[in-house]
Amino acid sequence: MKTEIWSVDKNVDSLNDYPQIKQAAALLAQNETVAFPTETVYGLGGNARNDEAVKKIFEAKGRPSDNPLIIHIADREQLEGIVESVPASADKLMEAFWPGPLTIIFNKKDGQLSETATAGLNTVGIRMPDHPVALAILRESGVPVAAPSANRSGRPSPTTAGHVKEDLNGRIAGIVDGGPTGVGVESTVLDCTGEIPVILRPGGVTKEQLERVVGEVAADPALADEKEAPRSPGMKYRHYAPDAPLYIVEGTRERIQELVNEQHTEGLKAGVLTTAENEKFYDSDFTFICGKRANLETVAASLYEALRSFNSSGVDVIFSESFPAEGVGEAIMNRLLKAAGHRIIK
Ligand code: TXA
Ligand code: MG
Repeated sequence: MKTEIWSVDKNVDSLNDYPQIKQAAALLAQNETVAFPTETVYGLGGNARNDEAVKKIFEAKGRPSDNPLIIHIADREQLEGIVESVPASADKLMEAFWPGPLTIIFNKKDGQLSETATAGLNTVGIRMPDHPVALAILRESGVPVAAPSANRSGRPSPTTAGHVKEDLNGRIAGIVDGGPTGVGVESTVLDCTGEIPVILRPGGVTKEQLERVVGEVAADPALADEKEAPRSPGMKYRHYAPDAPLYIVEGTRERIQELVNEQHTEGLKAGVLTTAENEKFYDSDFTFICGKRANLETVAASLYEALRSFNSSGVDVIFSESFPAEGVGEAIMNRLLKAAGHRIIK
């Protein structure tokens, strides 16, 4: 399959008139798969009402079939047709955070969406992305769009069209290139079907932000204990991993440099994931500056680029600094721990 690639400027007015957007939306309406930027990461979209379209997504990604997709919508009206009811908590949260990096799990209305998209569950995760290109495509296509991150399963999520091409060129109908995404980690997945909302995946909207709007918010126990079974099917899979083994070091810069030196004495190459503040302290074979520690949003924005960059660097092992699990740092550490297969050096 030839993958079309279109470039659009996300800052132009009335994107709906752009031929690239029209072509991408038309392909979606024809049940083909198209990757597009959102404010978090690039998504691989398909018509959520159509089983064939959704199967193409699973196939292109190599995604396990028990892992449901997030449904993307452009307005609140689309929501009413696909959910059973809107809990009061969800109503407040949509008001506060949509469009934005928050996926809300609702009880699903039967017979509206592809069963493949929801992996046969009674619930459905929905979000309205805060990105002009995504919104224009969603509006123009006129259908709810199932869109997981546009990476091959297990790889780091894509934050540029180049990452999507690396993983999916020849496997999907098109890629809309709208430049690098902003947030850099995926949306927060929040289950609003029970009494108290529960975070199933930390992401772009923090627990503190949610609590300011709805009061108490719980977290899936599996997030703190890797031995618990997660309630979000996708959280049980190995994910985001670079090719070389990654270790998170909870220690000083000196300790990390020691670890690098040990690799050198064995004739191996070592990489370091650090930030602008600390870069100058390392002498490694490949040092990636992942944003600024003083501003964790910048670390989130560069994290997946960092994880991907080690693959072409030729290092045998990677040591990463650790980050405070506060605010967006929760999502950063969640992804880093998964990428590291929970290998931590204390
Ligand atoms: O920011 C994002 O959310 C990106 C962009 C493209 O929108 N999408 C994304 O999709 O991260 P994906 O498929 O990579 O991750 C979806 C996560 C998975 O962990 C999945 O198991 C969970 O959401 N999920 C989806 N529907 C669910 C449901 N009904 N119940 C529990 N978890 C669900
Ligand atoms: Mg993903």
